[in-house]
Amino acid sequence: MSPDRNRLHMAIQKSGRLSDQSRQLLKDAGLRLAQGGKNNLSARAENFPLDLMFVRDDDIPTFVADGVCELGVVGQNVLEEYTLGLTEPRIEEVARLGFGKCSLKIAAPDSLTYFNLKMLAGQRIATSYPRLLARFLDNNGIEADIVTMRGAVELAPRLGIARFICDLVSTGATLEANGLAPVADVFDSEAVLVRTLKPVDGPHSEKVAALLTRIDGVIATAESKYIVLNAPEEALPAITEILPGAEAPTVVPLIGRPGHVAVQAVCQESVFWETLEKLKRAGASAILVMPIEKMMM
Ligand code: PRP
Ligand code: ZN
Repeated sequence: MSPDRNRLHMAIQKSGRLSDQSRQLLKDAGLRLAQGGKNNLSARAENFPLDLMFVRDDDIPTFVADGVCELGVVGQNVLEEYTLGLTEPRIEEVARLGFGKCSLKIAAPDSLTYFNLKMLAGQRIATSYPRLLARFLDNNGIEADIVTMRGAVELAPRLGIARFICDLVSTGATLEANGLAPVADVFDSEAVLVRTLKPVDGPHSEKVAALLTRIDGVIATAESKYIVLNAPEEALPAITEILPGAEAPTVVPLIGRPGHVAVQAVCQESVFWETLEKLKRAGASAILVMPIEKMMM
């Protein structure tokens, strides 16, 4: 592969838990991706100098660390496993993306009725995450045998390869289907945007910055709401206090209603029914909560 150096390159998962939402993130950031067949290994953004590379998630940190791709979307589980094997930093996390939430867990046959961590001592544990598991065992002062497998870790207990496994759990369906149950949490993970620590040249780094600004906007917008409400002036301090993650709200007088104002604010956190009820109790009325389509801070 000889990448076109006039364009940015981003590595995303070819197929798997993160691939659909990784593409959606880029679409939400306004990128129009050229349609390619399912088997295409790359796709070009038609309205931004970016090429997507579709690779195995385990290969994403390597691509980004080597600078073959300036950016990537990967699970923190894969990123941390890779980073633990480095002697110096080569890749950095730039944003949490809020999807692909899962957790690396130790699991045991579901016939096990009692568990505590000490029971792992001297046992064989099969995993695709040997470094994360080793760190966990170390932090808990446990010595056990780690059996590294590239996949199908859930089969290990049935095959007699290991008594325990340590694998990624999202819905838990895979464990259940294999007669296993989670017994301990090793590492919580979600999808993150990563960038290379290799120097990126001038014009390129501007493109990276522009793309990161857009992606930040998408992340912020996902949670943010625009709130409009009416309130008596003396209720303003209490109301501003309740508005979740709002900085300086705009306050405008209401014509014909002396002592009353309209308040407008961007809330950068979720707005729940409880929040609206509190606002109402504090004196607010005519409360509107609206989605925000685009945002650039
Ligand atoms: C993980 C893990 C399980 C599955 C668990 O694989 O290895 O197979 O997800 O999901 P569930 O709890 O919803 O059943 P991953 O997505 O990392 O794929 P990969 O191992 O092929 O990279
Ligand atoms: Zn994988």
